[in-house]
Amino acid sequence: MSEAPAQKRLFIKTYGCQMNVYDSERMADVLRPLGYALTDTPEGADLVVLNTCHIREKASEKLYSDLGRLKPFKADKPGMQIAVAGCVAQAEGGEIMNRAKVVDFVVGPQSYHRLPELVAKTARAAGEALIADFAPEAKFDALPDARAVSGPTAFLTVQEGCDKFCTFCVVPYTRGAEFSRPVTAILEEARRLADQGVREVTLLGQNVNAYNGIGPDGKPSTLAQLAYALADIPGLDRIRYTTSHPRDMTDDLIAAHGELSALMPYLHLPVQAGSDRVLKAMNRGHTAESYLRLVERIRAARPDMALSGDFIVGFPGETAADFEATLDLVRAVNYASAFSFKYSKRPGTPAAAMSNQVAEDEKAERLARLQALLDAQQAAFNAAQVGRTIPVLFEREGRKAGQIVGRSPYLRPVWAMGPPSLIGEIAEVRIDSAARGSLSGALGRPTATPPTPRAAALEALA
Ligand code: SAH
Ligand code: SF4
Ligand code: F3S
Repeated sequence: MSEAPAQKRLFIKTYGCQMNVYDSERMADVLRPLGYALTDTPEGADLVVLNTCHIREKASEKLYSDLGRLKPFKADKPGMQIAVAGCVAQAEGGEIMNRAKVVDFVVGPQSYHRLPELVAKTARAAGEALIADFAPEAKFDALPDARAVSGPTAFLTVQEGCDKFCTFCVVPYTRGAEFSRPVTAILEEARRLADQGVREVTLLGQNVNAYNGIGPDGKPSTLAQLAYALADIPGLDRIRYTTSHPRDMTDDLIAAHGELSALMPYLHLPVQAGSDRVLKAMNRGHTAESYLRLVERIRAARPDMALSGDFIVGFPGETAADFEATLDLVRAVNYASAFSFKYSKRPGTPAAAMSNQVAEDEKAERLARLQALLDAQQAAFNAAQVGRTIPVLFEREGRKAGQIVGRSPYLRPVWAMGPPSLIGEIAEVRIDSAARGSLSGALGRPTATPPTPRAAALEALA
């Protein structure tokens, strides 16, 4: 089937998490049959979509400054439409329509399959400028099968929404209740990706390990069962998933990490804080100790597991001693990478109304200390790769002539000199040097991989 000729230009800016990245790609897929082709500048575009994030105050504010910047482009291009999508659209759609006249329509994360009707109607005039219902099932059913892929890795949303209601977080309000796509629909999407040369899929969900989609037998499937089914698809060599909640890390998923080689040894497992008092006030549903025991069990199944985490400093009521407990937990886990944030008050969340807010300068100081520790752990993790030979999935050419870039099993970018024909292939690379965020090495014949320090230690103890 040939596609409609591209007559219209579409610019999408994506803020926030990987789920938004997936949604932006799917918005382009929805609009492609109408003749929209992606462009990398808003200047002269027929449709500009801002796919927004509401997670922290700064992320939300970006929307209004970007809308201001878009005004002159719209003045220069009569007929340009500007749409606000994503989590700010869901949370503050009405306010956006009132405050920013430059916006033609607003569409929430569960409604973007309806973009074609919105662009066709010059929606603001039609009085249907706001679509913010929660119907993930209808959305996934309506999305086109065809997906444009760029390179050998792809995101695949399998679960959406959150029922956990951490007291600081807007996601349950912007994305709605937990919903899992059926196994068959996911396998079909994955097969089509593999047919287009995708070798690695990252399964996405706000609580991806709460996945419980209906299987072909009519019974709910776990994420581990889904991973086994995906690993059977020819060409799909690597499977990742994010973001997991410690409460949903089930025994079968942990066991799968020890048994299923396609499941990559990298796990993003946010803990947020190390003090039980704070964890309780956050409504996380786990303690520092239960998290540490969980990490132990995961590493027992997969000794070289690289862990990553999310942290919030300065949650209301966090004392200096509570913060020290976070540092202690970080030391005990030893993270390969991490994201850390100052607590940000979000309208409508329980924590925003708590009286014991932490001063801004205190938050800044704690964040700097935490980040120094996490940076040192990341540097040590990277340094430990030097001398090892590891399989790298090459994704694209590098900046220097003759250079190609890919990812290690631990999600570290790896640079090597090599032919572009290796893009889309997995090849062994001997790591020679480590920088802050990436590794570099030389392609070579596979040699025996020296064990990681942790694996060596475990062996010695056995
Ligand atoms: N579903 C995932 C993460 C969702 S948001 C999970 O459960 O972990 C990504 C990260 O943003 C969170 O892990 C948290 O660290 C951070 N975050 C969420 N709300 C925040 C807030 N109000 N202030 C600061 N950071 C926040
Ligand atoms: Fe937000 Fe907590 Fe849900 Fe994660 S589990 S999305 S942090 S409410
Ligand atoms: Fe942001 Fe929404 Fe993702 S608030 S982090 S874009 S789920």
